Amino acid sequence: MSRLPKNPFKFGDPVEGDFYLARPDLESLVSQFVLNRIPVVLIGPRRFGKTSFVLNLLQKVSQDSYSYIFVDIFNITSHRDFLHQMLRAIKERANWKESMQAMFSSIPKLRPKVSAQFDGHTGYPSFDFSFDKASSVEDDVKELIQDVFSGLSKLGKNLIFAIDEFQKITEIDDGGWLEATLRTHMQQLKNTSFIFTGSRRSVIYDMLNNSSRPLYKFCQSIEFPSFGDEFTDWILTRFKSVGISCDRDAVKHLRRLVQESPNYVQMVCFHLVALAKDNITVDEIDNALKIVVRQNAYAYQTLLSTLTPVQQRTLRLAAKEGKQIFAKGLLAKYEIGSGAALSSAIKALKEKEILDEEGAGRGTVVFDDPLFSIWLKTSFDD
Ligand SMILES: Nc1ncnc2c1ncn2[C@@H]1O[C@H](COP(=O)(O)OP(=O)(O)OP(=O)(O)O)[C@@H](O)[C@H]1O
Ligand SMILES: [Mg+2]
Repeated sequence: MSRLPKNPFKFGDPVEGDFYLARPDLESLVSQFVLNRIPVVLIGPRRFGKTSFVLNLLQKVSQDSYSYIFVDIFNITSHRDFLHQMLRAIKERANWKESMQAMFSSIPKLRPKVSAQFDGHTGYPSFDFSFDKASSVEDDVKELIQDVFSGLSKLGKNLIFAIDEFQKITEIDDGGWLEATLRTHMQQLKNTSFIFTGSRRSVIYDMLNNSSRPLYKFCQSIEFPSFGDEFTDWILTRFKSVGISCDRDAVKHLRRLVQESPNYVQMVCFHLVALAKDNITVDEIDNALKIVVRQNAYAYQTLLSTLTPVQQRTLRLAAKEGKQIFAKGLLAKYEIGSGAALSSAIKALKEKEILDEEGAGRGTVVFDDPLFSIWLKTSFDD
């Protein structure tokens, strides 16, 4: 069997090691806040490298005297899910056996199960402290969430608690209970720093800037930056590592087309390597991007078919114009009845996480998925 060289590009999941290009400036900025226990929210578009960044940072600081817990709440739908993810994240970091045992022993509802699993174990604990799902009524779950937060105080002097996809806590319909609980514990836990990431700009903006909400002005928000020229250099080096030459302009062109998403840059480059190209030009990029977009066509069509006609036209308008979409001539051009109809379509599309508004919403919309925007542009071209 012939062995192909390993593809130097990777997309989809968080990256590390050779697949990860460091962001030293952002690292030192975020570290400053974290080391001084100022809660940080990193806000950036989908697939921009937020999770990779945080995981790499946590790994780095854990070599000093920090320990960390990383909770991914992207798929939570309830308090129970939240608790489950939190416990799972703690379990993943089960290397600090003693402090963790102390922590869980301090939580009466979890105690019996945990200590049973610790008993008779030497070395690495293989315990499982999942709580009894059937008997866990909502009040118990809430109490457990609070207990687990309080228990964090037992996990050493310097703990970093990271929540990925932070805005999800607002989607649980609990009158702001989880948000308020989080704030209370953030104030009380003297040993813990908090890092959050989020991609729904408008949701997070409201969380932090609406004076009636618990986290009002409580966190430092940091805009997750796109890469500078170093990313282009890095891509060229990655190609070179498998003997492929690539025009610098071609990479710049690609970055522009996919709105600086490192994920889609890596995805298209992955395809170019897989297609065994050896000299990559702007044209090659266009072709590869077309293939990638086409591969998603079915998903995009399916998505479109779930939308109302006005919502579909709004997407076409957004894909083609992007900025100042409320301009007079555009409504007629895209057959949208009124400004109000456009506003309510945008609102619905934001709720479906297809579009988001830039800043506090001034007629500039961005697509959650830049490829969807490219697909829309090309399939409705004149
Ligand atoms: N520092 C980096 N260097 C190189 N590529 C990166 C980097 N960060 C992200 N990427 C690319 O982006 C992809 C997605 O990264 P990651 O999952 O960290 O982003 P995200 O913002 O957390 O995405 P999501 O919105 O889906 O949670 C990676 O698979 C990789 O292709
Ligand atoms: Mg992520």
